[in-house]
This record gives sequence, C-alpha cells and structure tokens, in this order.
Amino acid sequence: MGKIVMVSFLVLVLVMCFGVMAMAMNFDHHDEDWGMDPKEEDWGGQQRGGHRHWFLLQRSRLLLRTEAGEMRVIRSVGQRMVHKHINVGFLSMEPNSLFIPQYLDSSVVLFVQTGRANVGLVHRHELGERQLRAGDLYRIPSGSTFYLQNVGEGQRLELILSIDTSEGLRMGTLENFFIGGGNYPKSVLAGFDSEVLTSAFNVSSSELRHVLTRQQQGPIVSLNNSHSSSDLWRKFVSMEEQDRLQELRKLVDLPNEQEQSQTWSWRKLLNSMFGTIENEKRKQNHHEHAQKAYNLYNRKPDFKNNYGSSLSVDESDYSPLQNSGIGVYLVNLQAGSMLAPHVNPTATEYGVVLRGSGHLQIVFPNGTLAMKAKLKPGRVFWVPRYFPFVQVASNNEQLQIFGFTTSSQPNRPQFLAGSSSVLEALRGPELAAAFGVSEGRLNRFVNAQREAVILPYNAERNTKAEGIPMADW
Ligand SMILES: *[C@@H]1O[C@H](CO)[C@@H](O)[C@H](O)[C@H]1NC(C)=O
Ligand SMILES: *[C@@H]1O[C@H](CO)[C@@H](O)[C@H](O)[C@H]1NC(C)=O
Ligand SMILES: *[C@@H]1O[C@H](CO)[C@@H](O)[C@H](O)[C@H]1NC(C)=O
Repeated sequence: MGKIVMVSFLVLVLVMCFGVMAMAMNFDHHDEDWGMDPKEEDWGGQQRGGHRHWFLLQRSRLLLRTEAGEMRVIRSVGQRMVHKHINVGFLSMEPNSLFIPQYLDSSVVLFVQTGRANVGLVHRHELGERQLRAGDLYRIPSGSTFYLQNVGEGQRLELILSIDTSEGLRMGTLENFFIGGGNYPKSVLAGFDSEVLTSAFNVSSSELRHVLTRQQQGPIVSLNNSHSSSDLWRKFVSMEEQDRLQELRKLVDLPNEQEQSQTWSWRKLLNSMFGTIENEKRKQNHHEHAQKAYNLYNRKPDFKNNYGSSLSVDESDYSPLQNSGIGVYLVNLQAGSMLAPHVNPTATEYGVVLRGSGHLQIVFPNGTLAMKAKLKPGRVFWVPRYFPFVQVASNNEQLQIFGFTTSSQPNRPQFLAGSSSVLEALRGPELAAAFGVSEGRLNRFVNAQREAVILPYNAERNTKAEGIPMADW
C-alpha cells in the first residue's frame, strides 16, 4: 500500500517536475529580466581607455530558488559572434536536500566544485546511481530522468554546469516549464480550465485540486523538515538503491506501455508539446551505457613546472563529453605566475575562477587590447576562438581556474611566448623580416624565455608606462 502511494506520488511529482529548462541565450530579448546593473549597461561600448568588459559574464539569472538551494545561469553577452556557446550554470544545494527527479531539455555536464552528491540517472533500460565528490565530472543527457541528493555531512554542494541548449525547446528565452506543479512551482496546466483537466486526467475535480496545490517546496527540497512532501522524499532516498531505481524506471517506462491504448498519457502530451524528447532519449541511449564520473583532481596534469600546472579533459579521456561536444580544463598558477599568452585555434573557452586572484588580458586578433580585468573567486569570463589572452596570478596567492571549451576534441592552444611558442617554431629569416629586425636579434628575443607554457610574471618589470587602467567591475 505504502508503495502504491509512493509510486503514484512519484508519478505526480515527476510530471510536476518535468522541468523543461529552455535555456537559450539571445540578447535581443528580455534584457530587463536580467536585473542589469546600470554601470554594466554599455558592455558593448568603448570604456575607460579602450577596453571592454563584455568578456566578463557577470549577470546571472536565477533559474530557481527554494529554501534548500538555488540554480543560476550566467548570461552570456556578445556571443552572436561565436557559432557555438556554452551556458554556464551554478547549482547550490544545502546539506540534506534533494533536487527531485526531473527531465531537462538540455544536456548538462556538471563539475562538483565542493561537497558530495548522489546522482541517480535513468535511461530507458539502464539505471545508475553514482557517488560524486569534489573534482568529478558527470554528464546528464537531455531527456533522461535524474535526481541529485546532497549527501555531504553538513556540507553544501556546489556544482558548476555547462548547459547545452542546442536541442532546447525554444531559442531566445531562458525559463523553466513545470508541466505540473502546485503553489510552487506553478504548473503550466493550471492555465487550462478544470473541465479540460478532469477529462484529460480522468479524475474528479477534488482530486485535481488536491494534486495541483500540493507541491509547495519547489524542485530542491529539504529532507530535514516536516512538510508532507519532505516525508515522501525522505522515504524515497532511504529506499534501497535497487528499489529506488526500480520506482523511477517504472515511471519512465509506464507511459510506453500505455501508448498502445487510447488513454491519455502524460508522455503523449509532452511529446506533442516538446516533440524531440523521446527521440533524443533514444539517441542518447544508444551511445551511453552506465556512466561513470571522471575526477579532475585525481588526474595527473598534462603540464607541470615550478610555476603551475594545467590539464584538459577531452572525449578521449571521458567519452560522454563527445555527446555534449565540450571539453573541460583546470589551470593552477602559483602566486606570481602566468599562463603564457596563447590562442585557442579550435574553441571558445569559458573560465570560472575557483580560488585566488589575479588578472586577465584579452586582445583582439588585430592586436588591440580588448579587455583587462581582475580575477577573483566566482568570476566567469569567456574568450572567443582566435582571441589571444593571458591569465596572471597575483603575487600573494595561487590562482585556480576551471572551465569549459566548445570542443570535445583535444584543444591545442598556440602559445605566443615561451620556449614552446609558435614564434619559436617559426624562428627564421621570414619571421625576422616580418618583425623588421635582424635574425640574430630575433633569436635573442625569442630565446630569452627559457620556460614554457606557465611562466614567472615579473610584476616590477611591468611598469605603469602602458597607462592602461585595469577594469575592476
Ligand atoms: C476513467 O476512469 C474510470 C474509473 O476509474 C474508468 O472506468 C474509465 O475507463 C476511465 N476512462 C478512461 C478514458 O481512461
Ligand atoms: C538540514 O539540517 C542541517 C543540520 O541542521 C543544516 O545544516 C542544513 O542546512 C539543513 N538543510 C536544509 C536543506 O535546510
Ligand atoms: C580591432 O578590432 C576591434 C574589434 O573588431 C575593433 O573594435 C577595433 O577598432 C580594431 N582596432 C583597430 C586599431 O583596428
């Protein structure tokens, strides 16, 4: 009996939380929705000595917030110039909370910044539950049911997400749709009149009212308190893994069994509304078997010297990235070091400062400064493909940057300085002629730096002569 109640409750909640998050960015619309700070208004224009700050992604949109957590998505700007962009999201969950089972219409690659999570993911015929810890990468395909539980003792769970909306429901908006819901989240179904709904669901109007007003806690629920829905979710998370996944699988498979009959099925409704979900799910399932997480912190760096280390993860390291078409990187710069000026020839890059401080310079391909800005924890920036840039750690602390790139192929940055630079490779009379200096002089110039990739940064030598004030928004 308890089980039947449980299942039907889960059906309802799953229906309720079919959180179709159409997260697409288009900057012609809804500017006022973004809570724009007036001093950030003219991001596209020239500012303070010719630099711009439109490579900093500062405006985040609150996608959902409950007493137990919140999810934000960073608004990107000026990205019409890149063919593919990533929406960077942040999910934060209080101790002992659950992001209840739902589908998204976007696929998500998540990175566990801090805390421990239990993620359950259901494909049509495969079930998997994984423990995730700090440093882990994990992919959630669009259209797959998943839930996330914060299992870190007294610890917040902080996730950084890359959200691929290319198969999303709608372009140009950023919103979630809750097919069902209650007082919170509100159901889109609430827009229909009760005759339609009682017929559609074949239930009495009192049953309908009961269902559509029950959900109060939103999609991230606390397992601490005594709400009735907390109670049900507590039961859910305390089931044996097999039982829990079994319950979810029933939910996912249930509609398929009904598809033959004439009865209403919520999946049919969803399919007619959102077309692609079923196909997407099928497609993903062919490629993805029980997924593993991939830990960045356990990985040996690709490059390491006295000044820092860096690593990147592509599809050859972690195959689920192939489906998302993104890569991941992590850079550690010791105090007073810099990642040599470089260009990404194949991908646009998004960075999130995890810890430390320093600064970032980005230049236009025509050799003028595009932006110079301070880096501090939580800052998000993006660098279009072909734009040369440099990250510099401050003198007193290590700088750590995590990020996504828009290609799951190995991203081979071209260094413009240091002993592995393209200048080094091109050294010769042609390059000397290009700079208009003698070959000997060019050689001395190019050879002066003995280190590669991550270099010491000599702040004293960096006089104020350039006269460019640093942006500090
Ligand atoms: C509606 O529910 C009743 C009783 O539960 C059932 O007999 C009937 O077949 C259902 N109708 C449809 C169209 O599902
Ligand atoms: C649950 O209780 C713990 C310990 O009292 C607290 O740290 C945590 O924030 C609570 N979680 C939620 C979601 O309220
Ligand atoms: C360099 O390119 C940028 C961006 O296209 C442009 O705004 C700027 O005026 C250019 N500067 C020069 C000197 O051509």
